[in-house]
Amino acid sequence: MSEKIKFTIDGKEIEAEKGQLLVEVAAENGIYIPVLCHWKGVHPAGSCRICTVKINGRFMASCTTPVDANMVVESNTPEIQDLRKAIIEMLFVEGNHFCPSCEKSGDCDLQGLGYRYQMMVPRFPYAFERRELEASTPKIFLEKNRCIFCKRCVRMIKDEEGRSYFAFKGRGKHLEINLDTKLAEHMSEENARLAMKICPVGAILRKEVGFETPIGKRKYDHVPIGSEIENLQN
Ligand code: FES
Repeated sequence: MSEKIKFTIDGKEIEAEKGQLLVEVAAENGIYIPVLCHWKGVHPAGSCRICTVKINGRFMASCTTPVDANMVVESNTPEIQDLRKAIIEMLFVEGNHFCPSCEKSGDCDLQGLGYRYQMMVPRFPYAFERRELEASTPKIFLEKNRCIFCKRCVRMIKDEEGRSYFAFKGRGKHLEINLDTKLAEHMSEENARLAMKICPVGAILRKEVGFETPIGKRKYDHVPIGSEIENLQN
């Protein structure tokens, strides 16, 4: 049986069901906590850490933390805002993100967060890792340079037998996203669309169609990332 509990986020009292994920409870209450790897309904990976908050004084990922009674959550503090900004900067320097030439520009969550957190010059040096483009399959391009290792595609894009099209290869600085090109020969249109949609950056792009959404109509052309959640309160 579900149990109702109360706790606070940035001083605001919230009522929720015990065990719900903090990031989702926050969203239901009009409090935006950014996510890059989380996707509602999919087992959390906790890999990007952009959803970090402080709970009772300790840093924790809100996408993997179930809510409990009397938790004191800090999210919108200068310390946490700067930590999130540092993560965004790290993601930008670790890959090769040339936004003006990317089809996901305007629809990209990483770019959206860069704007939201007012990223200017990253505090970290650029790595300029060289990663290859995988363009040999009929339905999608895999632009490994833009991957931020969120694992959404690995967890969500599967064939009828439950086999994953995507997997990680290598370790440390040599880690990269990989596509099972044999399996992807028969990737459905539906999976190709979904893969592009759930990728929070421009690492997965569909072939045959390009720039379907014109400039001016893209997700973040008029509203900043997170506003759909924050506007719930208005
Ligand atoms: Fe929570 Fe990525 S969204 S760790």
